[in-house]
Amino acid sequence: MSGAPTGLNEVLQRTFSFPKRHFLSATDLNEVEVANLLDLADGFVSLNRQTSKKLDLLKGRTLMNLFFENSTRTQSSFELAGKRLGADVVNMSPRSSSISKGETLIDTAVTLNAMQPDLLVIRHSSSGAASLLSQKVGCSVINAGDGQHEHPTQALLDALSMRRAFGRIAGLKVAICGDVLHSRVARSNIALLQMLGAHVRLVGPPTLIPAAADRWNVEVFHDMRKGIAGCDVVMMLRLQLERMDGVMAPSQREYFRFFGLDREKLAHAAPGVRVMHPGPMNRGVEIDSDVADDLAVSLIQDQVEMGVAARMAVLTSLAARLDNER
Ligand code: CP
Repeated sequence: MSGAPTGLNEVLQRTFSFPKRHFLSATDLNEVEVANLLDLADGFVSLNRQTSKKLDLLKGRTLMNLFFENSTRTQSSFELAGKRLGADVVNMSPRSSSISKGETLIDTAVTLNAMQPDLLVIRHSSSGAASLLSQKVGCSVINAGDGQHEHPTQALLDALSMRRAFGRIAGLKVAICGDVLHSRVARSNIALLQMLGAHVRLVGPPTLIPAAADRWNVEVFHDMRKGIAGCDVVMMLRLQLERMDGVMAPSQREYFRFFGLDREKLAHAAPGVRVMHPGPMNRGVEIDSDVADDLAVSLIQDQVEMGVAARMAVLTSLAARLDNER
């Protein structure tokens, strides 16, 4: 391809047709599919670092972003991913749509479906919303976070960040710390990381670790220093006060004292430890700025960059499947 940016041919060779129509849950994926998505995303990282970022892999396709909950990273990265791949991208906000006049989720979805989109990205506060939508529309549905259930593209970008930092995921000790109870990020990461051979620990106060964790094949710790001891990755989670029914954590000051990540606690982790956070961060609540902003330790900005590439990989693979169906 003349005039193609370096690496484009490599990306094209890695493009594959995703075997499922929708991208709803990390538990729907297998190891080969994840490896293919990560390899493809790696190629997009190189392309995204070049001056010319525009491709036509999704030319003629329409991507609709339907976000019923606030988002900075996920919505903007899906928008950028779609545009860089040449798709027409429409952003729907519930506040400015007929949803604010009482239209139901299903009616909204069926209405949008009649406009023949190819890819529908949804974030919703109800667990199962993306799956429900996928049964009502003809296009591919991508789960951008449904309640406390899953956030599978976040897990994919986290896996990409870890694989690039360590060269592998198998054998890594990963501590997921904080408000696991309300975290869709934690649920998707546990499924994906275990599939890829990582050892996962959960660390947090008993009130914020779900009872179901007993069945997740993870080690559970209620002492932060013991929980992160010897870990290669410490993934911090936001204290999701908006999802809490009553008081489930002490004051933010006390929470930071016991479960906030600072230099002193981090010193218990393995040498070369990397710190992650899906964002948005509450500085001084679950993480100290000193750790979050130390680029020798923190992967937080890498995670944001990988988010665009990982979502480009998901969109390309789903669109390739649509091409094959046609
Ligand atoms: N990690 C994440 O989902 O961030 P946003 O809420 O900003 O999309």
